[in-house]
Amino acid sequence: MPAAQTARHVLRCVHCGKAQEDTADRMFRCTQCSELLEVVYPDWAGAPKEFALRLKEIWRERKNSSLPENTSGVWRFRELLPQVARENIVSMCEGNTPLIPLKKAARTLRLPNLMVKHQGMNPTGSFKDTGISAAITMAKAEGFSWVCCASTGNTSASVAAYAARAEMQSIVLLPAGYVTAGKLAQALEYGAQVLQLRTDFDGCLKVLHEVVRKFPAYLLNSLNPYRLEGQKTVAFELMEQLDWKAPDHVIVPGGNLGNSSALGKGFLELRDLGLIQALPKVSIIQATGANPLVRTMRENGGKELIRVNAETRATAIRIGNPASWRKAVNILNSTGGTCEEVSENEIAQAKADLGSEGIGCEPASAATLAGLKKLLAAGFVKPAETVVLVLTGHMLKDVDYMKQAQEQRQSLLGPMEADSDTVIQTLEQIYARH
Ligand code: F0G
Repeated sequence: MPAAQTARHVLRCVHCGKAQEDTADRMFRCTQCSELLEVVYPDWAGAPKEFALRLKEIWRERKNSSLPENTSGVWRFRELLPQVARENIVSMCEGNTPLIPLKKAARTLRLPNLMVKHQGMNPTGSFKDTGISAAITMAKAEGFSWVCCASTGNTSASVAAYAARAEMQSIVLLPAGYVTAGKLAQALEYGAQVLQLRTDFDGCLKVLHEVVRKFPAYLLNSLNPYRLEGQKTVAFELMEQLDWKAPDHVIVPGGNLGNSSALGKGFLELRDLGLIQALPKVSIIQATGANPLVRTMRENGGKELIRVNAETRATAIRIGNPASWRKAVNILNSTGGTCEEVSENEIAQAKADLGSEGIGCEPASAATLAGLKKLLAAGFVKPAETVVLVLTGHMLKDVDYMKQAQEQRQSLLGPMEADSDTVIQTLEQIYARH
């Protein structure tokens, strides 16, 4: 393969391995066994070593460019993405998120090399933007003018925003009563057709299956393999930030399990191309009330999905029948990662811990720190190791959760008289307590 060109790709079934003629059916499922598909790049197999080395240089050089395809943290890595015409790229500078060392948690846990990769710093406040940029670009290339998704909230916000940028129409199916006000407001503000269904996320996705068969809207959920191509770029960006030295562990929350699959795919591709020498262990954390992967691994070693009726206050990951479970099992097995569950209290505590050192995120994201504590206690993570927690969503996505937590901790004082004596007296009391 010549140095630094975008690559030809094919869609292949993750289960039976059958290569698909085109995008198979509208649900992106295998025409033979109905399992999910993945994007593979056959020409990489014989890529010379210089290819990988040259890529690192090209990607670095693009950081000084102001072209839209270079300011995107997704399309900057386009040699490892499906080929697309420049004019079809739908981008809002997604990716480009900070890697921040944790100080307090590092001290408390005696884990000096602890960092967060904050995906909440994306344009619509979650990691979804990298995936939606990639998949909506494919939708545009294929001539669609309507796109759709089922969502616990973040995907809908992202789909709505990117559709608006692309001058497309978007339809989002949401579980009524289980999407935070902030996420719902985003979808509405960006002009999506918002349908709130009396069911959960899994029920919304089921309905969407039927909708896309009859309605010409392009499906943007993470079972669309192009979503994962966008989301895998966080692995590339992270490795660049760490000077291509892989951390020992990367820990990510799990819901529909697209993100963990994408992240793992990114690391595996970097390893196969020789851009990194070792793989990080990718571990997945679920809420105890929404733990289908944990149960599946524990009870049958990942052979058959155990569905659950999901319930958690971390509404982003309130999912009991994850579409990408098979891909996630492959990632756990091929990177040597594990999966763990954490309680509602453990999530709330971890979120408060992060907040206390100036790092905000939504509850689902805080599950990573809660999970890390357990993995440390179990000896799976060792004190000398380097750990990256992927924070998936912005703190302001779920303000109600925080307000409730602060009220419980009584850290929110009630209204008081607007005179300096009252304020100074109050401050003196606070000061005395410190
Ligand atoms: N964290 C946040 C903040 C999320 O919004 C999601 C998923 C996840 C973690 C889990 O990622 O599904 O790829 O395993 N949110 C989806 C949505 C389901 O509709 O916004 P996953």
